[in-house]
Amino acid sequence: MSATDPDPVENVVATIARSATEIRQGLVGRRGKADEQNPSGETQIEADVWADQLLADRLSSIDGVGEYASEERSEIIDGGDETVYVAVDPLDGSSNLRSNNTMGTVFGIYEEPLPAPGSALVASGWILYGPITTMTCARDGTVTKYELTGGERTVVERNVTLPEDPLVYGFGGRVPHWHDEFREYVREIESNPEHKLRYGGAMIGDVNQVLTYGGIFAYPALEDSPRGKLRLQFEGNPIAYLVEAAGGRSSDGSRSILEVEPTDLHDRVPLHVGNTELIDRLEETLD
Ligand code: F6P
Repeated sequence: MSATDPDPVENVVATIARSATEIRQGLVGRRGKADEQNPSGETQIEADVWADQLLADRLSSIDGVGEYASEERSEIIDGGDETVYVAVDPLDGSSNLRSNNTMGTVFGIYEEPLPAPGSALVASGWILYGPITTMTCARDGTVTKYELTGGERTVVERNVTLPEDPLVYGFGGRVPHWHDEFREYVREIESNPEHKLRYGGAMIGDVNQVLTYGGIFAYPALEDSPRGKLRLQFEGNPIAYLVEAAGGRSSDGSRSILEVEPTDLHDRVPLHVGNTELIDRLEETLD
């Protein structure tokens, strides 16, 4: 299918895939601070603002797109249609630009106006700017991995599922700010000699490793931040939808992230995703 496909979901996915190569190239020279803050109070990098504008222009003008919303802007852009509603984190983990480490682009395509619960997602995915650029996309209950070259998608794996034996774990937030129950859970994960620590400071890089090797990623509730750090519409829901489509589980600590009702576009959510048995055990420990 092409970027002019009449299916708006496919058209949004194809447009993000085409834009990814350009975004990657545009990072050069845009690593400085933008002297602005995003709606969550984080200092923006020039590349955050630029990638957001590029995706806003392209995605909001696609036929069938009702809204474009992003982690980098307070207001929703009205696309003028009423079929799908797109939420984007244009550059997830952009603080990694300074050290030239991995980062990503995350997207969720909802069938309800934003803010919407994850149960209203019809597709989600991410671009990973690693040594090569890849796209991982969930739709209709299946996950597909692509390599991107010059905007073209080449399938590298269909029906992607989490490996059965968990290998990697990564947990965000300052350790002194973790709740005691979460700390107890981390000790249990670390005590298994099969498990290895992997934390890179960009959620997409860390979740992509969990999808590749099996395991768990979490940015939990913290003593000084009861809702954690990650944003429900732009990060939590799209990641949860994809990990669940790949046979894993998501949780805010007690239920699937996809069941969390949003109250505001920029709501945060404690995020835990990974192999089902690890998330089940987490919920038992936090209970
Ligand atoms: O969007 C926020 C983000 O950059 C995530 O990609 C990442 O998981 C997290 O923040 C890293 O936060 P910290 O710097 O607290 O480890």
